[in-house]
Amino acid sequence: MEFVTLSNGVKMPMEGFGVFQVPEAAVCEQVVSDALSVGYRLIDTAAAYFNEEAVGAAIKKSGIPRDELFLTTKLWIQDANYDGAKKAFQTSLDKLGLDYIDLYLIHQPMNDYYGAWRAMEELYEDEKIRAIGVCNFYPERLTDLCMNVKITPMVNQVELHPFFAQTGAIENMKSLNVQPEAWGPMAEGKHGIFTHPILTEIGKKYDKSAAQVALRWNTQRGVVIIPKSTHKERMEENFKIWDFTLSEEDMAAISALDLGHSEIIDHSVAETAKWLNGWKIHD
Ligand SMILES: NC(=O)c1ccc[n+]([C@@H]2O[C@H](COP(=O)([O-])OP(=O)(O)OC[C@H]3O[C@@H](n4cnc5c(N)ncnc54)[C@H](OP(=O)(O)O)[C@@H]3O)[C@@H](O)[C@H]2O)c1
Repeated sequence: MEFVTLSNGVKMPMEGFGVFQVPEAAVCEQVVSDALSVGYRLIDTAAAYFNEEAVGAAIKKSGIPRDELFLTTKLWIQDANYDGAKKAFQTSLDKLGLDYIDLYLIHQPMNDYYGAWRAMEELYEDEKIRAIGVCNFYPERLTDLCMNVKITPMVNQVELHPFFAQTGAIENMKSLNVQPEAWGPMAEGKHGIFTHPILTEIGKKYDKSAAQVALRWNTQRGVVIIPKSTHKERMEENFKIWDFTLSEEDMAAISALDLGHSEIIDHSVAETAKWLNGWKIHD
C-alpha cells in the first residue's frame, strides 16, 4: 500500500474500500469486516448511503487501532448549509461511533455549499475532522471554491476510470493542490470493463486481471481509488495491485480508452440537479 500526503500533511492510503449501494446493515457490516481483514484501511461511506452505523459496527468489532484507519463520510445536499452541516456532521459521527472523521466531503456541488464549507472549516479547526474536501466538483466550481475560501479542499472525489479519464480535471486539481480520488474506479462494471479486450491483454503481461489493470492505471497517475465489492475474493483481487508497474506504453493505451464523457451521471444537466435535490435522506 502506498500513501499520499494531502496539502495539510495528512497521510491518506491510496486505496480504500467504498460502500455505496450496500444499504442492508448486516451485509454492510460483513463486507466492511471482510475488507478490513483483506487489509483495506480506508473506508468510504456517506450519510446518503444509509450504512454509517454498519460501517461503525464493523470498525468497532475489528479492534484495529483508530489511528490505523482512515474514515471518509459525506454531507448530503439536503444538509448543505452552515447549520445543516454542523448538525449532519454530528449525526454521522454518532452513527459511526467515532469522535473524529479523517475526511469529510461535500457530496455534491449543490445547495448552499459555501455555507456548509464554512461549517466544515470550523469543524476542521476544532480538530473534529483531519481533512476536508468535496465530490463531483468540476474544474470551474473547484477553482471558484478554492479562490473564495479560507481553507482550500484537500480532496476532490470524482468519477475516474479508463472510459472517463478526466485528464484535464486532474491537472486542474493538481494545480490547486487538491488530491484527486476516483469514485467508480471500475466504471461500476460498465463498458464490459472486467472482460475488456485491451485491459485483459495488458493484464496478461503482468499476470493481472482487467480490474487490476484499471485500478493500477489510476493509482499510477496519482489518483486515490476506492473500489467496491461485496465479494471477498474480488476485494482481494482489487487489493493486489501494489506489486506491479504498468509501462508507459500500457498507461497510454489505457488512457486512449477515454470516451470524454460519463455514461453514469452527467452533472452538467438540469435533470441531474433535479434528481439529486429530490433525494431526501431525512424529514
Ligand atoms: N462521491 C460520489 O458521488 C460517489 C459516487 C459513486 C460512488 N462513490 C464511492 O466510490 C465507491 C466505488 O464506486 P462504485 O461502487 O460506484 O463502483 P466501482 O467500484 O467502480 O464498481 C463496483 C462494481 O464492480 C463489481 N466488482 C468489483 N470488483 C470486481 C472484480 N474484481 N471483478 C468483477 N466485478 C467486480 C461490484 O460487484 P460486487 O459488489 O457484486 O462484487 C460492483 O458491481 C463507492 O462504493 C462509493 O464509496 C462515490
